[in-house]
Amino acid sequence: MLAGWDDMPAVLAPDNPVVTYAVERRARLAQALPAELLIIPAGTARVRSNDTDYTFRPGTDHVWLTGNTVAESVLVIDTTGGEADAVLYLLPPSGRATDEFWQDPALGDLWVGPRPTLAETASALGLETRPLSALDADLAQAARRARRIRVVPTLDERVDDLVRGLCGPELAPHLLLKSTLDELRLIKNDWELAQLQLAVDATALGFEDCLREWDAARAAPRGERYLEGTFHRRSRLEGEGPAYGSVVGAGDHATTLHWTANDGPLRDGDVVLMDMGVELPSLFSADITRVFPVTGTFTPLQRDVYSIVLRAQQAGIDTLRAGVAFQDYQDACSRSLAADLIDLGLLHCSLDEALAPGNQYQRRWSISRAGHMLGMDVHDCNHAPVGSYLTGRLAAGHTLTVEPGLYFQRNDLTVPEELRGLGIRIEDDLVVTETASVTLSAALPRTPDAVESWMSALAA
Ligand code: GLY
Ligand code: MN
Ligand code: MN
Repeated sequence: MLAGWDDMPAVLAPDNPVVTYAVERRARLAQALPAELLIIPAGTARVRSNDTDYTFRPGTDHVWLTGNTVAESVLVIDTTGGEADAVLYLLPPSGRATDEFWQDPALGDLWVGPRPTLAETASALGLETRPLSALDADLAQAARRARRIRVVPTLDERVDDLVRGLCGPELAPHLLLKSTLDELRLIKNDWELAQLQLAVDATALGFEDCLREWDAARAAPRGERYLEGTFHRRSRLEGEGPAYGSVVGAGDHATTLHWTANDGPLRDGDVVLMDMGVELPSLFSADITRVFPVTGTFTPLQRDVYSIVLRAQQAGIDTLRAGVAFQDYQDACSRSLAADLIDLGLLHCSLDEALAPGNQYQRRWSISRAGHMLGMDVHDCNHAPVGSYLTGRLAAGHTLTVEPGLYFQRNDLTVPEELRGLGIRIEDDLVVTETASVTLSAALPRTPDAVESWMSALAA
């Protein structure tokens, strides 16, 4: 069995655009955390059951700093010399002479496909590479020089254990590495913005597929899942797959913010809330929500509630520009929702009273924040210092969602019966500019009339 095999072709695509950016990103990280040893794992596959794993998704920071997506890889950046001295530790290909190649369903090249060689990775990514088996000894030696060792924790248990062995169980130093990386990733460059636009465009195709297959979904006992499957197919064709569990909630399922069971039917008279996004190979991800009437026509009441949410979203979008507080667009959405809920007769108080910090009465029905940063993670840069994100100011190149919603639970006795079980969210993806914002998802119809026209144009 060992003889008669030709060489395998190269595994990695040439000219990975991340490579150029990664050099500059590593330099910025070294500037932020000088004289340290920084360890950024790609992560490992997670067990689903027995010897079957979940699909591997590489760690965001590792990909951002290297372009490498191979499981179990570990990037080590030594900043003690004042620069980002980077080494990428990798599992080499199994090699035909090993038992691993022939018999290991998790790691054997024959089972899981070929891994790139160390030389190929070094040349494709412009990084020094070393075998993963050298990591322990190399780290022990480098640890003597560094003032600090930090790891992005929880991605790779073996690496976490190794680091604990070198510098003890304290978690805080490691969280500083993660928060520094998330802060550095907040502002997107032009290539990153183009990637996000591609993710949004791919997602728009997925929504269109769903509308084309609307009648088949209506006929299916689990119509929600039919639509989820339709979007899944498009997301696999255009990118890596869905960026998060797609939410397809018909009827009162739309009132569950992260409804992912998707096992219900599409009933005439109800609306369907679809919150879906494609993740690209670069990991850039869209996060878009649209709401559709099952019959293709909103009822007057659905239209009224939809219009309230749309007004709130527009109020949030109108607030966006570099220099304003992140909280400002959230507050604009809340203010608009609260004013309309007073007009609707659901809130019996003044606007100021509804919005007072201890009250925030509109939150009974709006529940979540009205948006978040978006990028290579759908909830991007969550660990950035609060002063740079949640209590900070927007800057040109920040990318975020604006996604107010109203969710009237089916057992909410404080709202008229006809509102119970209705959930509406409208979510778009935007980039902040010096003077305003650009809506990357503007091609997806948003007003009630435009949504109805979109449905009828794509109906089979
Ligand atoms: N899809 C999750 C969210 O909208 O934040
Ligand atoms: Mn979102
Ligand atoms: Mn969403």
